[in-house]
Amino acid sequence: MKPDSIFSLSEFEELAQTCMSSMALNYVSGGAADELTLKANCEEWKRIKLKPQVLVDVSRVDLKTTVLGQPMQLPILLAPTAFHRLCHDEGEKATIAGANQAGASLVLSTYATESVETIAAAAMQPLWFQLYAQNDREVSRALLQRAEQAGCKAICLTVDTPVLGARNRESRSQFQVPADFKLPNLAFDSAAITQRIHHQDPLSPTLTWKDVEWLRSIATVPLVLKGIINPGDAVRAVEAGVAGIIVSNHGGRNLDTLPPTAEALPRITEKVRGKLAILVDGGIRRGTDVLKAVALGADAVLIGRPYLYGLAAAGADGVERVLEILKTELKLAMALTGRTSIGQLDRTVLWD
Ligand code: LAC
Repeated sequence: MKPDSIFSLSEFEELAQTCMSSMALNYVSGGAADELTLKANCEEWKRIKLKPQVLVDVSRVDLKTTVLGQPMQLPILLAPTAFHRLCHDEGEKATIAGANQAGASLVLSTYATESVETIAAAAMQPLWFQLYAQNDREVSRALLQRAEQAGCKAICLTVDTPVLGARNRESRSQFQVPADFKLPNLAFDSAAITQRIHHQDPLSPTLTWKDVEWLRSIATVPLVLKGIINPGDAVRAVEAGVAGIIVSNHGGRNLDTLPPTAEALPRITEKVRGKLAILVDGGIRRGTDVLKAVALGADAVLIGRPYLYGLAAAGADGVERVLEILKTELKLAMALTGRTSIGQLDRTVLWD
């Protein structure tokens, strides 16, 4: 398959059906319960309409931006997702190569099948690390410090998963982390992780705002909270002094009937814009979705499932192609709405 014969993210999703095992596909594409939030995440961006401005010189459109004070080539990052070897034998090595080719940053998962050191050494853009806090604070501290020492430029603490949600699709396919997978960022082997997931062993049910303050006090790079939906929690995050939040419902994988992130985002930006970095994930499938998220006050977006489908279909080149498609679509959407820089994207580009 030649990635340049693919023109939309949905084509990659279709293609992935033919090159992933059904267990891997169910794990990656599934959501919680009736998967209402999973579907709504995609649908809600599409409901928002655009208001173009004509007769603007759009011969140059610039996607560069700054997030957490870090220069980025584009306002799109690869979200942390677990076990990339489920999609491709080269796992996260292929993902980072594709991200490099497209000039994008990756947020590496605690549950990566490659070590943070290996991926940090390969990364050409700022690498961030997603942290699943462990019940033992010292284990969390060691993981955070290891990521920092490897060169990660931010820590994204997942706060929306004290336990995993009711994932019927995943359970039905009897998801297991293949026995030959290594999870080099954790002290557990694949069997121990499967055990956790299968038996609904909680990930970090004791995690509270006190731990956030503690992690912030020991972190030497910016701390970002991943999984904020409630505007009140966003205000609390500002009070806790964190550097940023990721507005996310965990890709609809944890608690069904949470609002889609396109609906939560404006309620959150209304309250905390300018006080910390705001990123959003969930259902971003088109350049117009990226444009709308930035217009609603996000500094950047993250994509998850789409790049895993690209990875499954064509390895590094598939990941690159997914990012290139979104970049091209975003540039076109900016030109066609009369905007030439990310800084010009605000609510005036939305139909009110
Ligand atoms: C998931 C966890 C591992 O969503 O983040 O499957």
